[in-house]
Amino acid sequence: MRQPFPPGFLWGCATSAYQIEGSPLADGAGVSNWHRFVRTPGRVLGGDTGDVACDHYRRMKSDVALMRELGLTAYRFSIAWNRVLPAGRGAVNAAGLGFYERLVDELLAAGIQPLVTLHHWDLPAALDDRGGWLNPDMPDWFADYAQVCYRALDDRVKMWVTLNEPWVIADGGFMHGALAPGHKSAYEAAIVAHRLMQGHARAVQAYRAGGRHQIGLVVNIEPKHVPADATDADRHAAHLADAYMNRQYLDPALLGSYPEALREVFGDAWPDWPAAEVEALKQPIDFLGLNYYTRAVVRHDPKAWPVPAAPQRQPGGIYTETGWELHPQSLADTLVWMHERYGGLPLYVTENGAAFYDPPVAVEGRVDDPLRVHYLRTHIAAVQDAIARGADVRGYCAWSLFDNLEWALGYAKRFGLVHVDFQTLQRTPKASARFYAEVIAAHGANL
Ligand code: BGC
Repeated sequence: MRQPFPPGFLWGCATSAYQIEGSPLADGAGVSNWHRFVRTPGRVLGGDTGDVACDHYRRMKSDVALMRELGLTAYRFSIAWNRVLPAGRGAVNAAGLGFYERLVDELLAAGIQPLVTLHHWDLPAALDDRGGWLNPDMPDWFADYAQVCYRALDDRVKMWVTLNEPWVIADGGFMHGALAPGHKSAYEAAIVAHRLMQGHARAVQAYRAGGRHQIGLVVNIEPKHVPADATDADRHAAHLADAYMNRQYLDPALLGSYPEALREVFGDAWPDWPAAEVEALKQPIDFLGLNYYTRAVVRHDPKAWPVPAAPQRQPGGIYTETGWELHPQSLADTLVWMHERYGGLPLYVTENGAAFYDPPVAVEGRVDDPLRVHYLRTHIAAVQDAIARGADVRGYCAWSLFDNLEWALGYAKRFGLVHVDFQTLQRTPKASARFYAEVIAAHGANL
């Protein structure tokens, strides 16, 4: 018999602003970096944009009603900085902020706890013009924006997240360039990583000055394994990959230091940040959020950049539409690793999910997605295992509530528990949504 989930364990779904809202310029919003990026030829598959997305900005009330029907007890969403501060700093746009106030009120009335992310990759273009996260003033601008949000919503929001996946912002935006702003430079990526963590630290400090609830950080972790016949070179490559992806952000935020291995990863692109500056990145937080999708089995590969480690496809493995191996055991191991390495902080799975092929149109009002049901069942069970092994896990959010704009992959990859017909915008809960509703109703006892 499995242990029951702890009382009060949160059952949620997650989304982000640019991926679902649509109406990007409505009610006085400023232009965002992603609004520009999707308009740059060749950047997003099929030329897809977030202009309409799931039209959540206009359908918010009925979307919250749907969340209630599914029985969600939590909903993780992000605020679009460019709606609140159209120029990135200075004048507040009350209408933009008002959308999130109404959303929070609607959620609370439905008995759903909001988890609010301040920065899930979309940035006011006016700040992008000043270098975005390369600019040494960004951490302060971010803390100023955060305070506007705290002042408006902290009376109702109990859980705040500073950044979503800083690794993806630095790696996707500045190292490999597949995401906005599309740069390709190890020198820039190293600086951006540090400025992001300074932004996180200052937003936490600002929260401590008047915030009444909890604040944390969300990271994506992908455990790095080596094959059974690994060489020393493979093991070293896995160690570097782990430092680069998994510890580059958590170590400074929680231990006040960067992993030594980053010097080797970045070479002369690694700046020697003053020790006091690195120590200041460590600010007490109330919880850690884990976005977990997959693991990677890697081998040494000198052609891979910046880490000489290349993922190996596993014989017999089940892979999602984004090419990610299904590996629930690594979710349990990651939660236990975070618990042990970072001082037993309360943990939340803030994203977990899979893209599998679903038809563009629901047939007779149904979408059967047995692979996603299997993914959810095995991963939620892995969370339960991690709890039994001592990790203090307090909630789980499936990614994602809706099929949505999968960034540079456009609408081609569907992660939703709720199907969206992008012609009619009709929502259809998939079999996975019905399954998740049953899990919630049984508080996980039916796994
Ligand atoms: C991000 C989401 C994204 C998901 C699937 C996470 O990295 O936070 O915005 O859609 O993964 O790729």
